[in-house]
Amino acid sequence: MSTNAIGIVGLGLMGCDVAAIFLAAGWHVQAAEPDSANWDARRERVSVSVGQLGGDFRSERLRVVESVEALEWQNIKLVIEAAPEQLELKQKIFAELDRLVPPHIPIGSNASGFRITDISCSCQSRNRMANLHFFAPAHLVPVVEVVRGEFTDPAVTEALYDIMKTVGRMPVRVNRDVPGFLANRIQHALMREVFAVIDEGLGTVEDVDTAVRYGFGFRYVAAGPILQKEFAGLDTHISAARSIYPSLSTSAEPSLILEEVVSEGRLGMKTGRGFWSWTPEQIRQERERYERTLLAALKLLRESRASTEQ
Ligand SMILES: NC(=O)c1ccc[n+]([C@@H]2O[C@H](COP(=O)([O-])OP(=O)(O)OC[C@H]3O[C@@H](n4cnc5c(N)ncnc54)[C@H](O)[C@@H]3O)[C@@H](O)[C@H]2O)c1
Repeated sequence: MSTNAIGIVGLGLMGCDVAAIFLAAGWHVQAAEPDSANWDARRERVSVSVGQLGGDFRSERLRVVESVEALEWQNIKLVIEAAPEQLELKQKIFAELDRLVPPHIPIGSNASGFRITDISCSCQSRNRMANLHFFAPAHLVPVVEVVRGEFTDPAVTEALYDIMKTVGRMPVRVNRDVPGFLANRIQHALMREVFAVIDEGLGTVEDVDTAVRYGFGFRYVAAGPILQKEFAGLDTHISAARSIYPSLSTSAEPSLILEEVVSEGRLGMKTGRGFWSWTPEQIRQERERYERTLLAALKLLRESRASTEQ
């Protein structure tokens, strides 16, 4: 039985799902979460996510404590910070981790916007710190970006990469610490054009979702964008690129429509309204459908991968 353990700092939305990944892989989890009023709810969430991964949630393998100081380092192989996205808070947590975590243990941050170079800049042991960027829901989306900061020792990113493979993830190495790392740069390039299309009245929000989800997005479960172009022919692609690129958005600012809805407090499901309106029951149903579909896609991806590895 494995006695490997992970330390997680912040057992919120992402921390819970990261905990589930490791528990489902047979690891132990110790989590530092100051909001003790929510511990039961978080344990329940972790339990459901472990179940979705086909694992058996064993309560004694998840130890939740109030602070980093209360973590026990004996079996911990890595620490992942998943506290709120505030630079000062993350810098404070990393200063604490710098001081308290034994030097041989690598430390990752799940920050989605802040560079590890900036989070760890004042830490003495910043060479063992990297971004370890998961995508929500972290237990269902297989990719995790392992980002080397300006101070990160390459051996640390390799160790993190190997651990991610061990627990069934699809790690991707990102060799420079740039905003958005690798995947979010691509995603935001798409989203800039998505909102430009709506701003310009080329189509509705429904048209955009349909075109991506039932069009080129649908293909991505079977092939990434480069492999897909190998099927389609790179000559066709370059010719389309030459004619389309000149008219694509190059705006350095978010679109008018996006600024407008956000300034009206329409933030999506969390405020009950974004581009659509949401009742709590609709949110519950949509989330269930979303996760069910992701799980089915995950199963297909695993089968497809297994068949290419045979
Ligand atoms: N939610 C997403 O879709 C998503 C996706 C990728 C990355 N991320 C990143 O993951 C990180 C966590 O996001 P989240 O959505 O889980 O946030 P969240 O607010 O759900 O969870 C954060 C948790 O950290 C706890 N916390 C606060 N201060 C702390 C401290 N000093 N020490 C330990 N824990 C503390 C909070 O009580 C909370 O439970 C952020 O950096 C976010 O940008 C989020």
